[in-house]
Amino acid sequence: MIKKIPIEELKPGMEVVRVADDLWHHLPYLYAEPGIIESEEEVARLRELGYRETFVATDEAAGKTDEAHLEQLLAEPRLDRERPVRTPFGEAISSAMVTYEDAMAHAMQIVQDAKLGRKMDFATSLETASAIVESAVSNPDTLVCLAKLSEFDDYTYTHCINVAAISVVFGEYIGMSREELVLLGVAGMMHDLGKTTVPARIINKPGPLTRPERDEVRRHPEYGCDILQRNSDIPAKVLRAVMHHHERHNGSGYPAGMTRKDIPAFARILSLADVYDALTSDRCYKNAILPNKALGIMYGMRDQDFDPTEVQLFIKCLGIFPAGSFVRLNTGEYALVFETNSREPLNPKIRIIMDREMKPIRTRDVDLTAPDGGDGPIEILECADPSAYRKNLMNYLTAR
Ligand SMILES: [Fe+2]
Repeated sequence: MIKKIPIEELKPGMEVVRVADDLWHHLPYLYAEPGIIESEEEVARLRELGYRETFVATDEAAGKTDEAHLEQLLAEPRLDRERPVRTPFGEAISSAMVTYEDAMAHAMQIVQDAKLGRKMDFATSLETASAIVESAVSNPDTLVCLAKLSEFDDYTYTHCINVAAISVVFGEYIGMSREELVLLGVAGMMHDLGKTTVPARIINKPGPLTRPERDEVRRHPEYGCDILQRNSDIPAKVLRAVMHHHERHNGSGYPAGMTRKDIPAFARILSLADVYDALTSDRCYKNAILPNKALGIMYGMRDQDFDPTEVQLFIKCLGIFPAGSFVRLNTGEYALVFETNSREPLNPKIRIIMDREMKPIRTRDVDLTAPDGGDGPIEILECADPSAYRKNLMNYLTAR
């Protein structure tokens, strides 16, 4: 439903809608720029500008329309749409790094707030998610690279941000609007907040969990919703995504055991990003799996864990060699994949960084779709495991 409200009642996260194209011409005090309100400052600014009223979508009606729209996008993604020109990786990476570090600081803040029972700073969550969306629109490979190569110790925080970033990259790939992407990013940042309620000795236990411990971990989506519900301004869509991010396609997930048709689209997207990041990260009980192998494993989980079409779309989005992959070439050299190519997934843009003895060399960027320079074509032979060689590749993202 669409409702007219006084500007004073406008809150971050609410969606302003334009009801009729010409109506606002006759009502100069009606604010009618469609989109999600991102902060209290924005509301204050609108008040200062003299706006008195606006039309907003109420959660129930907006929720139903949004859900139908998202289902439509996932079934028929807008892959061939006109996109803004991508900023080259070398230019986009610096601001993506700033965004990623700011997001990390915000993740620490919201985890702290959750632990101490404080009210969440939702306005800053929206700003943080907006910055992630800007990075994804500008050059999605930067975020995928950072999600893999950033070295922060605490999995809790990096996982929040990685799930937000990867979900947003996927949402951008299928053609979601910026407003939807911002809320998806917020849901990603908050999806595991409920783990702050689960005792740390269970979360960090290296060995197998006992039945009661496992049951406790499985309550984290509900705990997360309890935490978020203390904040009246968290949209229902975010709450539902947090609640259901562990539901599975065939009904084997938790907490509700929903099957595909009932799982909200946001929750299904979070679940893809969540599993990908968990598989490709080092944990106390397992080593990281290489990105391309992780995607292979996820493909094997189609029909059980994931909708088969959606997991294939996710794999297509990240590419056969996802950005951030460390690869061995037919020349014997080693390279870092920094830009994927959806038309030719075997031929991404790579930065050659080490010789066959793994000694650092003067880096050079090669577009594998381009004709070779006379020494024969360069090909990727396989993904290599940087951790097996104790290589930290982060510096190579910016070094030229
Ligand atoms: Fe979770």
